Amino acid sequence: MEFPVKTANPVKTETPCLVIPVFKDGDLLPAAAKIDDASECLIQQLIERGDFNAKLGNVQMIPFAPGLPADRLLLVGLGERAKCQEGAFCKAVDAAFAHLAQMSIDAAAVTLTDVPVPDRDAGWKAHKIAESALRASYRFTQFKSEPAPAPSLAEVTLLISEGDDTDAATLGARHGRAVGDGINLARTLGNLPGNVCTPRYLAAEAERLASESAGALTTEILDEEALEALGAHSLLSVGRGSEEPSRLIVMRYNGADDANESPHVLVGKGITFDTGGISLKPGAGMDEMKFDMCGAASVFGTVASVLAIKPKINLVAIVASAENMPDGRATKPGDIIQTLKGLSVEVLNTDAEGRLVLCDALTYAERFTPASVVDIATLTGAAIIALGHHATGLLSNDDDLALDLLDAGETAWDRAWHLPLWDEYQEQLDSNFADLANIGGRPAGTITAGCFLSRFATQYPWAHLDVAGTAWNSGSQKGATGRPVGLLTRYLLDREDELRDTTIEGE
Ligand code: BES
Ligand code: MN
Ligand code: ZN
Repeated sequence: MEFPVKTANPVKTETPCLVIPVFKDGDLLPAAAKIDDASECLIQQLIERGDFNAKLGNVQMIPFAPGLPADRLLLVGLGERAKCQEGAFCKAVDAAFAHLAQMSIDAAAVTLTDVPVPDRDAGWKAHKIAESALRASYRFTQFKSEPAPAPSLAEVTLLISEGDDTDAATLGARHGRAVGDGINLARTLGNLPGNVCTPRYLAAEAERLASESAGALTTEILDEEALEALGAHSLLSVGRGSEEPSRLIVMRYNGADDANESPHVLVGKGITFDTGGISLKPGAGMDEMKFDMCGAASVFGTVASVLAIKPKINLVAIVASAENMPDGRATKPGDIIQTLKGLSVEVLNTDAEGRLVLCDALTYAERFTPASVVDIATLTGAAIIALGHHATGLLSNDDDLALDLLDAGETAWDRAWHLPLWDEYQEQLDSNFADLANIGGRPAGTITAGCFLSRFATQYPWAHLDVAGTAWNSGSQKGATGRPVGLLTRYLLDREDELRDTTIEGE
C-alpha cells in the first residue's frame, strides 16, 4: 500500500473517497470546514438533521459530494473534543479503515492528521494512519477454497493542512507502513495452524527473511543435535514428546555504525502447539494453543519492521521453538532437567513449558553481551486474569528498561503494565529436589513465571513481556493481533535516537 503525503486543499482533491473526521461538539476541523463551505454546508446539515451522529467510532458514507471533485465522503465520528486522546484517535482511524477496506475502491484521501491529539504531532498521527490502513486490509484466507475478494484499497493519500508537517508525516507514514507490514506478518505466522507452522517452518521463515534482506539479516539455526552438544537440555525437554524436532533460531541485524556495539536482543517463545504435555490441557478451546508461538511471531514481525526501516542499531533476535506433546518419551511431572545455565529444574507441571524453552535462550543470549534483552511470550493464563486483553504484562530486573518499554508502548498505543518482581515471590519456586521448580503455585502466576526467568537473566538488563492476553483474539474475531510488534519496533527506534543523543552530547 502507498501513502503519499500532500498539502493539497481537500476541496480540490480528486479521490474515490475523502475521509473527514468530525467532533460531536465545537467547530468543524479545518478540512471539514473547507468541505462544508464548498458544499452548501453539507456536513453541518447532516449533523443538524441528525443524519450523522459523530459519536466516537461511528462512520457514515455519503455516496456523492455535491460541488466537490471527490466521488464520495466518509464522515468519521471523533466523539467529544475534550476526550480526544490517543485511544480515541486510534479508535476513529480504525473505524474509518475498517469501512474503507469493505468498499470496492482502490484509493482514498484522509484528512485525519487534522485531529488534535495532545502531545502527538503529525508524524505520530501519520504513523497510526498507515499502520491502521494495513491492519484493516489484512485477510487470512490461504486455507479457504473460495476466499472473499481481497480489499482493493491500495493508496491512501494523507492530506496535510500545515505544509510544515510534510516531512514529519512522510517519515511517520513510512514507519507506520513498516510496522503495519510487521504486524501483519506476525498475524499470519500466529494464524497458521500447528500442522503447518512447526519449529522447522519458523526456521525456514527466518531464512526467508534473511534471503530477502540483501545481506542485512543473517541467520543461524541450531537443530536438536547442536542443542544437545550445547547443553540446552531444558529447551530439548519440551519437544521430547513431539515428532517435530525443536529449533533455536538466531537472526542478526547489524545496522549500527560500529559492528561491535552491544546489540539489543529479542527472545520469542515459539511453542508451535501447546497441548500441555503429560500435564494435558482440557480439550475445550485447545485449538487456540496454536497461538502459543505469538511471542516468536512478534519477533519475526519486529525483525521485518526493522529491515524495512533500517535503524542504526544492532539487533539479535532469538526464537526458542518446540512443540509440547504427550508421548512415551515426553517429560513427566517430577522429572529433573539440567538447563544450559547449569541450574537444575524440577518439572512439576509439563504445561509450564514456555519458561523451559526461554531459560536456555536467555542463557544463550549472554554470548552477545547485550545492551538489553526483552523476551516476549504467551506465558501464563494468569496474565489474562490480571490484565485482561488490553495490557501486556511487563516484568523486569531494570527499572530504566521497564520505563523505556512502558513509554514505547504508550507511543505505539500497544500498551504494557508493570508488575512487581520482588524477591518475596522467588521462594514460591523452591524445590525439594532441584535448584528450582518450574511452577510457583496459583498466587501471582504471571509474577512467579517472571521470577523463574529472572534466575537466568542475570548478566544484562532484561524485561519480560507476557502477551497471553494481547497476542490473539478469541470468539468470532478469532485471530492473532500482531501485538506487541508496535511496542517493540518503537522501543528499538528509540534506542537509535538515544544513541544519537548521547553522541551529540559527547561531542
Ligand atoms: N501457553 C500457556 C499460557 C496460556 C494459557 C496463554 C492460556 C494463553 C491462554 C502456558 O504454556 C501455560 O500453559 N501456562 C500455565 C502455567 C501453569 C501450569 C503454572 C498456565 O497459565 O496455566
Ligand atoms: Mn503450557
Ligand atoms: Zn505455552
